[in-house]
Amino acid sequence: MENSLTEKTDARLDELRARQAQAQSGGGQARIDQQHAKGKLTARERIAALLDPDTFEELQPFVLQHCEDANAIHGDGAVTGFGQIDGRNVCVYAQDFTVYGGSVSLTHARKITQLQDLALRNGLPIVGLFDSGGARIQEGVTSLHGYGEIFCGNVIASGVVPQISVMMGPCAGGAAYSPALTDFIIMVDKTSTMYITGPDVIKSVNGGTIVDHESLGGARVHASISGVAHFIAEDEAYALGLVRRLLSYLPANNAESPPRLPPDDVMAPANLAYLNTLVPDDPNVPYDMRMVLDGVVDRGSFFEVHAGWARNALVGFARMAGQAVGIVAQQPLEKAGVIDIDASDKIARFVRFCDAFNLPLITFVDSPGFLPGAMQEHGGIIRHGAKIIYAYVAATVPKISVVTRKAYGGAYIVMSSKAIGADLHLAWPSAEIAVMGPEAAVNVLNRREIAADADPAGRRAALVQDYRKTHATPYYAAERGILDNVIEPAQTRATLIAALRVLREQLRPKPPKKHGIMPV
Ligand code: HXC
Repeated sequence: MENSLTEKTDARLDELRARQAQAQSGGGQARIDQQHAKGKLTARERIAALLDPDTFEELQPFVLQHCEDANAIHGDGAVTGFGQIDGRNVCVYAQDFTVYGGSVSLTHARKITQLQDLALRNGLPIVGLFDSGGARIQEGVTSLHGYGEIFCGNVIASGVVPQISVMMGPCAGGAAYSPALTDFIIMVDKTSTMYITGPDVIKSVNGGTIVDHESLGGARVHASISGVAHFIAEDEAYALGLVRRLLSYLPANNAESPPRLPPDDVMAPANLAYLNTLVPDDPNVPYDMRMVLDGVVDRGSFFEVHAGWARNALVGFARMAGQAVGIVAQQPLEKAGVIDIDASDKIARFVRFCDAFNLPLITFVDSPGFLPGAMQEHGGIIRHGAKIIYAYVAATVPKISVVTRKAYGGAYIVMSSKAIGADLHLAWPSAEIAVMGPEAAVNVLNRREIAADADPAGRRAALVQDYRKTHATPYYAAERGILDNVIEPAQTRATLIAALRVLREQLRPKPPKKHGIMPV
């Protein structure tokens, strides 16, 4: 009697294990070998590499696209479930390229949307690992409908839970638009591509020269030209490491505070004194804004976002005495830190993200202003630059700004000035805060006087010097209460940490409205 029960139980377990093995084999060993030959891991291998060991719990591995189809593949090319990263819960899904090229059927889509629902109901970040030929062509409009449902889930989750997309293969059509709706895109160099229309379509529509997939939408293109990708990774392991690091700065959802490192892990910069002489006397000589950050944030904690795109702006996460913060700055090494269209988009987007997920914003300003010229005007610098103002004004997280050198005109106002809501607005003694730079101001104000002078060059130099002394200093603003303080650069870290202890989410009465119209 006992024997037959054991046999029966074993048989059931055998069936379960056989079914599990079949479901886990995806499109079969031959396709798995092809995937490996391309230097790519399989969907399940990727999830295992991303999560803490043995924490993955898969959902719906036995789902079939068409139950009546004898050749249908279990799971339908989407591996979904939850697990842990550094002991914190996350939802994760990965597209299995060995099953119909990772393409999205309605069944595949609904596995993803069910995971999005689970993440939303439980306040968990969503990580998507993409490797997909886009909408499942054989399925026609139902696959498009499935994509629509995924997009819908992305938008509803936006601002509630962090969403991170890792591009690990060709990602065409809908496979590019869902990531575009998420917060961060990481692309693996050489193996991943993102494009809406492939080279063949481009050729058939306008007869253009065939471009290869990589030069059309490879990782380097999107990380440096289009700005679609926030990070580029040399290989899959590095990309998954970036996900883990990124999540270490973020709360699981918008109702929580970002994780705070215990004081043991807090590392003050080794040296601060160099900050006092970092900014060159000559306003035309650049310096590296990253060196400012080195002397302010916890050692090694600056994690740059969008590092290869719009490099005249600098954004990223960091820690201050263990507390995660968002950093926004100009980079004087690139185009003198001027604000152009791409820099505007980069800054505004990052500010919106930090505000949604409760990360205080620290802004370092050194910008001669907005980039002049017909290219920028025709490209809509007015519309794009307005996004920075909109994002800072709407942000209710603590906002601190430090002017390190130039803050002229529009750049002064938009970069977290007191007028647009900074809680604390500081400057270094090297700050030059004015409507415009001395040379430009003198040209406007003193044109006739200079022309009439026996020594025009000498007269101009004297006027420039005079303007610099009276207007292009932090004290003109400090005397009028527009700056909260002028501080010694070496004291910046201490002042910011003290301020972060005090500042809380701003409680401001807001006019009732459904939502504003952000200039996009
Ligand atoms: C069904 C697909 C598929 C798809 C690939 N496969 N894409 N099956 N629907 N969309 C299948 C292939 O037929 C092949 O099956 C297997 O996956 C592997 O594909 P290969 O072409 O052999 O791989 P590779 O050479 O690496 O090329 C990958 C690729 C290419 C670049 C992704 O397959 C491709 O161009 N696919 C079509 C991309 C596309 O245009 N998708 C539709 C986008 S429109 P077999 O059995 O032969 O091995 C869209 C609508 C939404 O997504 C838009 C929203 C805005």
